[in-house]
Amino acid sequence: MNVINNIRQIRSWHTINRGTRCVLVPTMGALHEGHAALIRAARELAGPNGNVAVSIFVNPLQFGPNEDFTKYPRTLVEDLAVCRDNGADMIFAPKAEDLYPADRSIQLFETSLSKTLCGASRPGHFDGVCTVVAKLFNLVQCDDAVFGKKDYQQLAIIRQLVRDLDFNIVLHGIDTVREPDGLAMSSRNRYLTPEERAQAPAIRAALVAARDAWKNGGERDPAALLQLIKQHLQQHAPLGRIDYVDAVDANTLQPVSSSTELVVIAAAVFFGGARLIDNIELK
Ligand code: PAF
Repeated sequence: MNVINNIRQIRSWHTINRGTRCVLVPTMGALHEGHAALIRAARELAGPNGNVAVSIFVNPLQFGPNEDFTKYPRTLVEDLAVCRDNGADMIFAPKAEDLYPADRSIQLFETSLSKTLCGASRPGHFDGVCTVVAKLFNLVQCDDAVFGKKDYQQLAIIRQLVRDLDFNIVLHGIDTVREPDGLAMSSRNRYLTPEERAQAPAIRAALVAARDAWKNGGERDPAALLQLIKQHLQQHAPLGRIDYVDAVDANTLQPVSSSTELVVIAAAVFFGGARLIDNIELK
């Protein structure tokens, strides 16, 4: 497994591997079983002769001024072991000063899909995500890229990025990996106290209860479904503070209208300083 941490090396890696299918898994490190599943999916896609590349970079551009950029876990040694154990061929772990020279003056802005859900709570977050992902796509020159569906809005925005900027890359969304009690795996789960950890699975349980009310109970009113989720959280996760819970169209990410085919309910809940997200499709 090659570990590359500068732009000169990634360019020569790409030259040496030209013609070999490359599948990229972009990450910010602090890898857990959810990332391991992405790497395994990439391995499957790349086949025995292809390359699986994993980028590890805590992107300062996607953190707001009062967010957890400085305390975001950095665990490179453990991350490399996860990458190796799950079949990665190359790790790209650049330094911030390499990706973002002090005199840089160009970045990307997303103007529609990022205005709801997490984007509404974290202004500029998805502009930072788009900028770094476009840079990673250019540097790694992958044919495919793999992202988790837990970050539903991120995946939708990156699909738009690929389309709008004509990247010749196929995107693959991979199902959320969960703890046995349903909590979506996240690098931020390690911030939780034992009490918060005990209550955090209520996010998933509330979303499932809403999906069941929609599927089996025939409830079609988005406001009623959202109310059910809020009540469930108040009852089962009193330590949680809801950032948002919204029902949106799966493609536009706008609040649902009657013409919507596929509805997604997405939620973000703070437990102390940890902001946890999850979502469920109504189908
Ligand atoms: O999902 C993440 O880990 C990050 O947002 C990403 C896509 C690696 C960009 O920094």
